[in-house]
Amino acid sequence: MLKKMVRKVTKVAKPVEAAMVADAHDSMKKIALLGLGTVGTGVVELLALRKLHGVAVTHIYNRNVEQKRAAWLAKHAQKPAHKLIENAAWTESIDEILASDVDIIVELVGGVTPAGDWVRGALARGKSVVTANKQLIAYAGTELLKLAAKRNAHLLYGAAVGGGVPVIPGALQGLGGDSLTQVSGILNGTCNFILSKMEAGADFAEVLAEAQALGYAEADPSADVDGYDARAKLVILARVALRSEIDVEAVETESIRRIAAIDFSYTREMGCTIRQISRAQVDGRFVRARVAPMVVPKSLAIAGSHGTLNTVVTHGAFGGDVVFSGHGAGAHPTAVAVVSDLLAVVQGSAQVAQPVRKREVTGEVTAPHYLRFIVRDKPGIVSGIAGALARNGINLDTILQHTGFSKDRLPFIATVEPCLNTTLRKALKSISRMDCMLEPPLCLQILTAEDKSV
Ligand SMILES: NC(=O)c1ccc[n+]([C@@H]2O[C@H](COP(=O)([O-])OP(=O)(O)OC[C@H]3O[C@@H](n4cnc5c(N)ncnc54)[C@H](OP(=O)(O)O)[C@@H]3O)[C@@H](O)[C@H]2O)c1
Repeated sequence: MLKKMVRKVTKVAKPVEAAMVADAHDSMKKIALLGLGTVGTGVVELLALRKLHGVAVTHIYNRNVEQKRAAWLAKHAQKPAHKLIENAAWTESIDEILASDVDIIVELVGGVTPAGDWVRGALARGKSVVTANKQLIAYAGTELLKLAAKRNAHLLYGAAVGGGVPVIPGALQGLGGDSLTQVSGILNGTCNFILSKMEAGADFAEVLAEAQALGYAEADPSADVDGYDARAKLVILARVALRSEIDVEAVETESIRRIAAIDFSYTREMGCTIRQISRAQVDGRFVRARVAPMVVPKSLAIAGSHGTLNTVVTHGAFGGDVVFSGHGAGAHPTAVAVVSDLLAVVQGSAQVAQPVRKREVTGEVTAPHYLRFIVRDKPGIVSGIAGALARNGINLDTILQHTGFSKDRLPFIATVEPCLNTTLRKALKSISRMDCMLEPPLCLQILTAEDKSV
């Protein structure tokens, strides 16, 4: 029956409820959950509260299951979730799960290995897989999708980008008729939380500690603040939205660690704020892709994304801009995406395979930029900076300097007219060598209203 349902069909227009309740003995799908942490627990709670018929969680895979089973069931005693999985088989053996008669494996462990081997094992046996694993899908999604197609199985990963924001099904199905050329977004809720709090006056270290205490950031926050989490999501979006296969490691990332309170003070004066932006744009055989903190005019849709919200704007050649926004993480929002994928598998809906082209990545972009300098004051600094810029064909636009700072450590900013970022870097290299510079200049791309999809 499963094979029949997942055969390469376009889209089965069957109402969800009807599909879920129809012929229970025929359509009941057995589910194995791999991992019962934050999202896994959210999925069990949602399945129980939504009372979705037609799916049964029959297996749970985790480590230290004896201990976890007792603790989990005790914590959820008297709750609907308890009833949903009290009779499930809990196991520490992945082989037992793969050899079982489960139809769908929901992988909520994370990481490229060993989760990738489990997903491969499931698909090779014709079992469908739903996962929230962005790293696995970024690095191995294409290979896994091919394997799924070969075995007439589904591989859905709607929670891997945007958590509860349906940007993947939106790009694949809702906008499948358009030709998307650009995607920009705030894809990492932790960075957005940190930068929104800094916009309101908090200090980076202080707000990072708060994000860690709230469970938004890991003890090692590098994946979030240095851009690797957003990079994995951008690579997935390039594949599903821009139909472009790009190399994860080739996408340039810049950390938000160097952003300071003074930058918010200056950008506020410019009518802007600062956000970690992930952008990818098709340009012939290239995809221009970057993940970096950028200066965002407050008039742009993306600047309205506060706290842990994720916002993604797509630009289509035919339909123009479309904005997706909502909770990018958390047990229940992420579980919504996972359960929605489960429904899609049970309904037998499948996306039409659209051609995906391998493209090279370039981080080169022509844009105006914000530069922040910290100097020991002395005559001739501005002319030295302007000279280095001019020698590289770059025009200074504005210079702003607030009063009240010591001349021994004086911050000021400049903005430059649109120029190639790689040329600007050359100029900044020579500016860094000026003996008045106390640290390398901070350089941020400024988004403009003329940029499509922001
Ligand atoms: N949390 C979110 O808001 C969110 C949002 C979007 C996507 N995601 C993705 O969802 C997935 C799950 O995230 P999560 O936040 O739920 O993680 P989590 O809370 O750490 O849960 C992971 C679960 O997997 C188990 N596990 C880890 N390694 C294992 C191994 N080698 N063998 C067996 N079990 C193992 C963990 O058990 P232990 O308790 O023993 O470690 C835990 O039960 C990840 O791919 C993540 O990127 C999460």
